[in-house]
Amino acid sequence: MMTRTRTRSHAATFSFLRPLLLVLAVLSAPSHATTSTGTAGGSGGYWRLLRKSIGISAMHMQLLPDNTVIMFDRTDFGPSNVSLPFHRCSFGSSHLALARDCTAHSVLFDLPTTTVRPLTLLTNIWCSSGALLPNGSLLQTGGFGDGDRTVRLFSPSVRHSDWVESPSYLAVRRWYASNQLLPDGRVIVLGGRRQFSYEFVPSDSPSRRHVFQFPFLVETWDRDAENNLYPFLHLLPDGTLFVFANDRAVILDAAGNRVIRRLPFLPDGPRSYPSSGSSVLLPLRPGAAAEVLVCGGAPRGSYQAALNGTFLPALRTCARIKPADPNPIWFMEDMPLARVMGDMLLLPTCDVLIVNGAAAGTAGWDLARDPVTSPVLYRPDSPVGSRFDVLNQSETARMYHSTAVLDTYGRVLVGGSNPHNGYVFANVTFPTELSLEAFYPPYLSAGPRPRLLNAKAEVGYGEMVTVQFEAAGEYYSACSALNLEVVAIAPAFSSHALGMNQRVVVLPVMRAGWTPQQFVYEAVVVTPPSPEVAPPGYYLWFVVHGGVPSVGVWVRIA
Ligand SMILES: *[C@@H]1O[C@H](CO)[C@@H](O)[C@H](O)[C@H]1NC(C)=O
Ligand SMILES: *[C@@H]1O[C@H](CO)[C@@H](O)[C@H](O)[C@H]1NC(C)=O
Ligand SMILES: *[C@@H]1O[C@H](CO)[C@@H](O)[C@H](O)[C@H]1NC(C)=O
Ligand SMILES: *[C@@H]1O[C@H](CO)[C@@H](O)[C@H](O)[C@H]1NC(C)=O
Ligand SMILES: *[C@@H]1O[C@H](CO)[C@@H](O)[C@H](O)[C@H]1NC(C)=O
Repeated sequence: MMTRTRTRSHAATFSFLRPLLLVLAVLSAPSHATTSTGTAGGSGGYWRLLRKSIGISAMHMQLLPDNTVIMFDRTDFGPSNVSLPFHRCSFGSSHLALARDCTAHSVLFDLPTTTVRPLTLLTNIWCSSGALLPNGSLLQTGGFGDGDRTVRLFSPSVRHSDWVESPSYLAVRRWYASNQLLPDGRVIVLGGRRQFSYEFVPSDSPSRRHVFQFPFLVETWDRDAENNLYPFLHLLPDGTLFVFANDRAVILDAAGNRVIRRLPFLPDGPRSYPSSGSSVLLPLRPGAAAEVLVCGGAPRGSYQAALNGTFLPALRTCARIKPADPNPIWFMEDMPLARVMGDMLLLPTCDVLIVNGAAAGTAGWDLARDPVTSPVLYRPDSPVGSRFDVLNQSETARMYHSTAVLDTYGRVLVGGSNPHNGYVFANVTFPTELSLEAFYPPYLSAGPRPRLLNAKAEVGYGEMVTVQFEAAGEYYSACSALNLEVVAIAPAFSSHALGMNQRVVVLPVMRAGWTPQQFVYEAVVVTPPSPEVAPPGYYLWFVVHGGVPSVGVWVRIA
């Protein structure tokens, strides 16, 4: 139904371009249509080791708009495998983090060169949250111990940039909280261990830091296992927030501080930390209702059982809901592989990749077994029953404290895994992982990639903008039904099976056609209509042609 509607509206748009269409038939069939056969879409993908060691274990990860990736673990893990420049660690430093050892617990990984630069952290950043601000600086909130009220900024645009920390910025301690960038450019920081509240950063004034009580987090707190930490947060296109904890969700009007809707219970068990499932807001398409997907988790009792040495099978179910539906229901599906601590990533093709995690146990120190090393692809628009594909497996177990983000090249960076309270490399089933891998999804072997040649560096809301892209001649003539999509992707802050702020906005293509240059085409697309649909900031734009995405180009929406 959705597909048909879209096709019709595009056909109408294109009717005045008939001469072009004879050659360049741009249809809006689901982007996997041409890749769903053979190795291209059915199975496959491959892994590459980018670095055997980045010196730390990538427990938190965020792609930045200068094509670096910032990663960090924790400052009290003991000496990492990357040293800080000596001058940063004066002997007897008043900062515990530097006095302990002169090693880094945060690094900046440069995508083009795969080099690593150590960064300096003064307070403990462990199990924290983050969001890329509209100006491209990373805002990071909370942590543990001396860092649990710290707000940190990292500004990639600044030369030789390093962390800038503001201890005691948060009104209360936030450990295991979640963040979401809001339409007004502020960030909501919600939850955390023994924190049944939320607050906003930047706060209204340094002296007046409001904490908003949020009884939903009391109600979803399990006495013996919590199961409501790192809540799933999604900004819906009407500006309200979808908040999920444990086994249920509410719609929060954060500005008005009120819950405006309760959604039905999700059957089959808890999905939040330590029963960590994962969740994404499915790609937003003009005219289509927003939908949330939740996959995996661990059954109730799993945490206590794991403490006792019994590792219960993880949940196999995924559930989808349209929060704005008059009668919302969870639509249930079975994954081919059960999984706890999976990371879910939105891909430029509008599919979802589920990667990392385990088939038994829960999150927590050494509480999981049976690593699931095969990523699974989920195609939200395919018919029920043919949405999942099991892909090529990694050689590395990625257990507790693993991460995954989409990178500028359309790959998935995968790092971390440390189920130990320190760096442990020997004599354990799952040693601390310092490696960084890239998974190349099947679309990167599915044919020549289009190349996005120009996109404006900055655009406004609801604007028509022209993008030019190049595609190989043979590729064009070989395709009977060419399809084209342009998507804007907000980069995620990855930690503990969450991709905070992850978002795909499909930009409607109004026209497409030749340019005088051979193999160069142009498309007129409409930018997102409002900051509720796409909060201001940096997005990776990909042109996806015949199911194959280009390399991403950064565009700031302001
Ligand atoms: C799986 O990955 C390996 C190693 O990267 C590669 O040789 C193989 O072709 C891949 N298999 C599929 C089905 O893509
Ligand atoms: C980390 O450093 C230690 C001590 O230098 C070394 O033994 C170990 O092999 C290193 N581990 C990795 C994964 O690089
Ligand atoms: C980005 O915005 C934040 C919050 O307003 C501000 O503190 C920071 O200095 C800005 N960064 C840059 C590089 O301007
Ligand atoms: C864990 O073991 C203790 C002691 O044997 C027992 O009392 C408790 O019921 C067990 N809990 C679970 C969830 O298995
Ligand atoms: C691992 O176990 C072996 C055999 O028991 C022992 O020789 C070695 O010292 C242990 N290594 C570490 C790092 O504990």
